Amino acid sequence: MKVILLGTAAGGGCPQWNCACALCTAGLEPRSQDCVAISADGAGWYLLNCSPDIRAQILATPELRAGPGPRDIPLRGVLLTDAELDHTLGLLMLREAGGLPVWAPDAVLQALSPFRAIIDGYGGWTWSSPVDLPGLRVQVLPVSDKKPKYVTSAQDGPWVMAYRIEDVVTGGVLVYAPCLKSWPAGFGAFVEGASLVLLDGTFFAPDEMAGVGGPDQPAMGHLPITETLTRLPGRAGPHWAFTHLNNTNPVLDPSSPEHAAVLAAGASLPPDGTTYVL
Ligand code: MLT
Ligand code: MN
Ligand code: ZN
Repeated sequence: MKVILLGTAAGGGCPQWNCACALCTAGLEPRSQDCVAISADGAGWYLLNCSPDIRAQILATPELRAGPGPRDIPLRGVLLTDAELDHTLGLLMLREAGGLPVWAPDAVLQALSPFRAIIDGYGGWTWSSPVDLPGLRVQVLPVSDKKPKYVTSAQDGPWVMAYRIEDVVTGGVLVYAPCLKSWPAGFGAFVEGASLVLLDGTFFAPDEMAGVGGPDQPAMGHLPITETLTRLPGRAGPHWAFTHLNNTNPVLDPSSPEHAAVLAAGASLPPDGTTYVL
């Protein structure tokens, strides 16, 4: 299975358009919003989440460009972990292709109803919960009850999933968990035997948003890296990598002690465009 990290930043990307914090103005290598492409055969590709940056992400990724026929595309579907706008708005950007299968938890499909009503006007989208991908075995684990800010209904979750995706031929396993509110029950077994685990790296520390005037960080539902690092088993087992990095996160600066601390724990902070073969 090929895995391409199309974007590795949290909502807003880095730099974020309305932010003049030290990191957004430091001239760091830009990061676009969290999105991953996977393929078992190198020909058909599935997106894990669909960021508002998807157009630029596709154009920057030769594997995802259209062809050989004038309107042939290699995208075969989209798996959503949640209903957050930074993970779903890109579906609107894909409307020129006239629809793809989208898989997501029931609560997410429900929350996206108004959005689906718009996008369904642009062709044959299908929306369902059970995931069935050729050549890939997909398992889901509910990991958080955090609802997007725009959801006002009392709808029950689960609201956020992690995916475990196994290539049935190579046995390579990707776990994708970009939104963790806490270390979820059952996560140890879920990552057992994985080759690569992509983890929520939104914040390094629990008080980080204070520097840019909030919002209330715990309400954002992201376990800080300082907590996650205490759970990692060192260099044994899967390779751990952080994604969905917020523009307030000091690990974005490769010369920071926080960046060094992540590497010292045996995890990585891969940039946009990083490719893995599992
Ligand atoms: C999140 O990850 O917490 C959300 O995407 C925040 C947002 O962009 O509204
Ligand atoms: Mn997000
Ligand atoms: Zn900033």
